[in-house]
Amino acid sequence: MVQNPNIIVGDFTFYNDFEDPTAFEKKNVLYHYPINKDKLIIGKFCSIACGAKFILNSANHTLHSCSTYPFPIFFEEWDQTLKPTEAWDNKGDIVIGNDVWIGYEAVIMPGVHIGDGAIVGTRAVVTKDVPPYGIVGGVPARIIKYRFDDPTIQMLRKIKWWDWDIQKLKTNLSVIRKMDLQRLKELV
Ligand SMILES: CC(C)(COP(=O)(O)OP(=O)(O)OC[C@H]1O[C@@H](n2cnc3c(N)ncnc32)[C@H](O)[C@@H]1OP(=O)(O)O)[C@@H](O)C(=O)NCCC(=O)NCCS
Repeated sequence: MVQNPNIIVGDFTFYNDFEDPTAFEKKNVLYHYPINKDKLIIGKFCSIACGAKFILNSANHTLHSCSTYPFPIFFEEWDQTLKPTEAWDNKGDIVIGNDVWIGYEAVIMPGVHIGDGAIVGTRAVVTKDVPPYGIVGGVPARIIKYRFDDPTIQMLRKIKWWDWDIQKLKTNLSVIRKMDLQRLKELV
């Protein structure tokens, strides 16, 4: 479904929508103008719920100016020497890890990195990076808790099951689904 080369999505990641999920690029990835060359990078095995939005850098009128009015966009009228990209503060790419679950109508702001295994709660507005396996919620999004204790998180980050080949994944699916820690340790 994704055609834009600046939107990179890993295998098995899915987006669900009650209306038209095929409009993802248009309705969920916003202010993503090619001129800023910023990217939305999403890992493998992510679940993206209906109405989640990714806000890219062309939403960020610069704060390094007396005015938030984007004069550089209208350079032809105001000053031919202005470059349109000067209209915005560029905070970099949005990078979503693997096995990330993004809840209903959550909003991910420019430049945010979300770690592997994280969860973004319903209607959260994520303005800062989310650590691996963190669960965040609210406006602005804050850590609610972590999915697992620290040793387990470290182990899962080492295992990176999402990079296994499909056959290994199929063979060990119950290990992952049922969180068989002993067997997981043997697979590191
Ligand atoms: C974030 C989430 C995963 C937490 O699940 P949980 O651990 O079972 O949550 P709990 O109900 O035990 O709540 C834990 C705390 O987080 C808070 N919380 C839960 N969801 C929240 C949200 N979306 N935003 C802000 N705070 C939230 C609760 O109020 C509670 O706070 P407290 O500890 O101060 O009392 C879940 O609430 C959520 O938002 N899931 C996404 C659902 C969704 O959008 N699905 C789309 C279809 S795939």
